[in-house]
Amino acid sequence: MSPAQEIARRRTFAIISHPDAGKTTLTEKFLLYGNALHLAGSVTARKNQRATASDWMELEKQRGISISSTVLQFDFAGCAVNLLDTPGHKDFSEDTYRVLTAVDAALMVIDAAKGVEAQTRKLFEVCRRRGVPIFTFMNKCDRPTRDPLDLLDELESVLGLQSSPVVWPLGSGPSFRGVFDRRSREVHLFERVPGGAFRAPESVTSLDDPAVRKKLDDDTYTAVKEQLEMLDGAGHPYDLDAVRHGRQTPVFFGSAVNNFGIELLLNGFLHDSVPPAPRHSVSVTVPGLAQPTTDRVVPVNDPKFSGFIFKIQANMDPKHRDRIAFLRVCSGKFERDMVVTHQRTGKQVRLSSSHKLFGQERETVDEAWPGDVIGLVGHDAFGIGDTLTDDRTIAYDEIPRFPPEVFTYISNPSAGDAKKYRAGLEQLLQEGVVQSFTARNAPPGATLLAAVGPLQFEVVQWRLQSEYNAESRLTPAPWTLLKWVEIPPDLIGPKGFDYSSIVVASGVSFGADKFGHPVVLFPNEWTERYFIEKNPGFTLHRLPIEQ
Ligand code: G4P
Repeated sequence: MSPAQEIARRRTFAIISHPDAGKTTLTEKFLLYGNALHLAGSVTARKNQRATASDWMELEKQRGISISSTVLQFDFAGCAVNLLDTPGHKDFSEDTYRVLTAVDAALMVIDAAKGVEAQTRKLFEVCRRRGVPIFTFMNKCDRPTRDPLDLLDELESVLGLQSSPVVWPLGSGPSFRGVFDRRSREVHLFERVPGGAFRAPESVTSLDDPAVRKKLDDDTYTAVKEQLEMLDGAGHPYDLDAVRHGRQTPVFFGSAVNNFGIELLLNGFLHDSVPPAPRHSVSVTVPGLAQPTTDRVVPVNDPKFSGFIFKIQANMDPKHRDRIAFLRVCSGKFERDMVVTHQRTGKQVRLSSSHKLFGQERETVDEAWPGDVIGLVGHDAFGIGDTLTDDRTIAYDEIPRFPPEVFTYISNPSAGDAKKYRAGLEQLLQEGVVQSFTARNAPPGATLLAAVGPLQFEVVQWRLQSEYNAESRLTPAPWTLLKWVEIPPDLIGPKGFDYSSIVVASGVSFGADKFGHPVVLFPNEWTERYFIEKNPGFTLHRLPIEQ
């Protein structure tokens, strides 16, 4: 296969959904269709354990939530599919957002009884900002659902997203009989598959076929006829260009647990979705280069290799105790053992330990193409957002940053495991599980942690214990807001800035991020407003600024 063909067949996407909508079940079914289940053990064996191929972490199993992202790779209908699993819990939005920077399309799974839920809305916004195509799967049609036309209206009114149903449900709940394919004008009849372990049998006829007519009760038949006429007359016509630019979403209906509608969804999605898109390289100063890099778009067929790291995870396999950096390939061809430049440090590195990852299974990768995600082991210097390339003029800046919303102090109560505690905390901070800050007046030995959601702190504690055998204690920190502060240059003397010259309300404190950039910590919004009023020369920022 030529490089152009290899790139054209890549499909890299993530599933976005509210917890419980059926993302895990659907992922499992995709693997079933992609003949990749052998890697994960059989569906039936896992059915009782409430764990799946992508739920590898103990905490996830205990809590029944997905907190870490894994990449699942499989082939289907000639496409090489990279499915990036995103954490479902709301507290893990930061990690999820990073993962979404590495995808070219998203599949939005909605529980058809509930419609658009909070977490879906948030994740959708991130995808929309990036302009990636979004496909929609209305799941759980075997249960009573909301009126399908209402569900479409909601996509439009809540998400502002034009929709065009590709398939249409025939009834719902006990009277659900299948779906009508609006492109081929054929009916796919639903048969309940106990346990959902095998590909659901699907027979295809037309809506007027007496066999179909007999299966639908009169009310369902009349309703479906009317709905379809309405869609044909007043619905949005399918517009591939709008789909590919994220302005219109093709909608599919089905039942993941029953394996129904999955093949239609996969085929439709892979066919109309986009191959890897070109990425934007930014202007930055990189060590060893006389000139800053220039702003430009790097074509996917650029012969030079490039990619960026969007996730770091340590100790995925307790037996190995290693650290994996996930890299999205953006241009050129990756070959194992190639020597590339780590742009942030300017150092040359040999990429010899590269893997495909599947839950706890890993397989060595010898080559990869744009759109692929590989796990690189054994490079402690790699950080989230770093570019690796053999073209020094490429530098990606794809990873979004988020203002922290919750704060806590963490410390180590037992002197015996202090070394392990420090090593563990440092590793987790490098992974970006939470952010850390120095804070004036911090309790002795305590580090200030900040995150988007409190469950992130729980993960830190849990991982310190289970992976580093180190105890930790959380102590509440009194702040609810953190802002980066720009100090007027004329106020910075030879000994630095004299913080006592700032007027602040009681309870306000100062600190610095890991790069030493100063931050102000506020107990509430009122103290922030007071700060702004009393110190007009100072500018506050929600996110770090280059200083
Ligand atoms: P998530 O990853 O989005 O959180 O959802 P997950 O797939 O775990 O599904 C949540 C629940 O919804 C599961 O039930 C799952 O079996 C069920 N489910 C998924 N797809 C369908 C569907 O098409 N129809 C119906 N009726 N249910 C569906 P559970 O009771 O939490 O777990 P389990 O005991 O069934 O595994």
